Amino acid sequence: MIKKCLFPAAGYGTRFLPATKATPKEMLPILTKPLIQYGVEEALAAGIDTMAIVTGRGKRAIEDHFDISYELEHQIKGTSKEHYLTEIRDVITKCTFSYTRQIEMKGLGHAILSGETLIGNEAFAVVLADDLCDAPKGVLSQMIELYKKYQCPIIAIEEVPKDQTNKYGVIVGEEISKNVYMISDMVEKPEPKNAPSNLAIIGRYLLTPDIFDIIRKTKPGKGGEIQITDALLEQSKKSMVLAYKFDGQRFDCGSIDGFVNATNYFYEKEIK
Ligand code: UTP
Repeated sequence: MIKKCLFPAAGYGTRFLPATKATPKEMLPILTKPLIQYGVEEALAAGIDTMAIVTGRGKRAIEDHFDISYELEHQIKGTSKEHYLTEIRDVITKCTFSYTRQIEMKGLGHAILSGETLIGNEAFAVVLADDLCDAPKGVLSQMIELYKKYQCPIIAIEEVPKDQTNKYGVIVGEEISKNVYMISDMVEKPEPKNAPSNLAIIGRYLLTPDIFDIIRKTKPGKGGEIQITDALLEQSKKSMVLAYKFDGQRFDCGSIDGFVNATNYFYEKEIK
């Protein structure tokens, strides 16, 4: 089954400047927990214990986060503050982490290709940590359930307001069972008037290793970047690629609105 999860985390996070000048976007916290830890916990809950993280310059804090801080541990051991580290310690104990760098930021497709050495020749999950999901059963767990049945690439989607299609990759497909679509077309960030649907791709994927060769052959698309959407469209012409409308909530924490909404949501859910 799927044992590895790739986290493309090399983007500049320009929408959060100046906060992201020296701090990775993935380390911005919703309440007390960095975005990427939510993603790792979702993967772990889906039975994945090998985390492969694609980083870039200025992202070293991610590696430090998933490591023991002996000085800190020693300092708070036996005090009333020790429990603050329980969750992250649990994650560190249960998972292994490996890292590679994307040298040039040439887009999400290119970031995924940069992770090939960490993934090898097996199916894998992809989590974009800035898409924070909350669901009764984690989104990756739902997708893996589906993967057991179909054994093919699966992309998570959600319905978005029609006037927001230009922020997303959008799919066209036939609904083959409830909330499961067989993809026939995909368009990257279409203007609302040209959008073929409002079914938007969000930051959860289950991919098969043949995608790497397809990405290698994919030319830069929208924005001059190598788009995973273009590679997946190519793959869908040869074999089945599914889109899955997941059960749960998603917050686009790469945008200020989404980040604030997520903070309020988790505050209501966990603190109040
Ligand atoms: P985004 O476009 O949301 O991320 O990419 P960004 O570039 O960091 O943010 P802005 O638009 O400048 O504010 C989606 C995901 O893909 C990763 C990002 O880290 C993010 O998780 N990504 C994107 C890469 O790892 N490498 C890239 O070249 C591009």
